[in-house]
Amino acid sequence: MYWTKKHVLVCTANHCAQKGANDVAGRLRLDIIRRGLDVEILVNNCGTIDLCDVGPNLVVYPDNVIYHGVKVGDLPEIIEHLKGGPVVDRLVLGRESPGEAARRGFYREAVAPDPTRPADDFVALATTHGFDAAWIAEQQRRGFVARKPGLDDGPETMTVTKKARSRYEV
Ligand code: FES
Repeated sequence: MYWTKKHVLVCTANHCAQKGANDVAGRLRLDIIRRGLDVEILVNNCGTIDLCDVGPNLVVYPDNVIYHGVKVGDLPEIIEHLKGGPVVDRLVLGRESPGEAARRGFYREAVAPDPTRPADDFVALATTHGFDAAWIAEQQRRGFVARKPGLDDGPETMTVTKKARSRYEV
């Protein structure tokens, strides 16, 4: 149905797919059909929306709401929203959401004066912002940080990638 009340785009590109986005998209589409809501709510897969480190992500239009870190278990609440209920605040990703602001604050410091620094310094800076090794590893997996061996016996380095600078506007 083209002329729907709400349109949901579920990112099923690589990074979100690795974290279960295809299950989320499939289950959401099925639940919408089973409840007879598919006349009013259209669910589509989509390519990346460049929020790859916090996926699986889905966007609801015309509400302009982004849900992040969505799991199959979150779908009943999201469907209530789609039916006209309240937005699921705990899953909303906004520019000023606490987690988003914290990550941007970290990256703002991590690119100054240079986006590349010794890995130990990078880890120490991340720690001061409350981010641990698992978080750094996730940022690496999603292409926001590049770890490289040191040159000429120098220390291993970590670089904030262009993807991260674009994503966090730093
Ligand atoms: S892969 Fe889903 S936002 Fe990039």
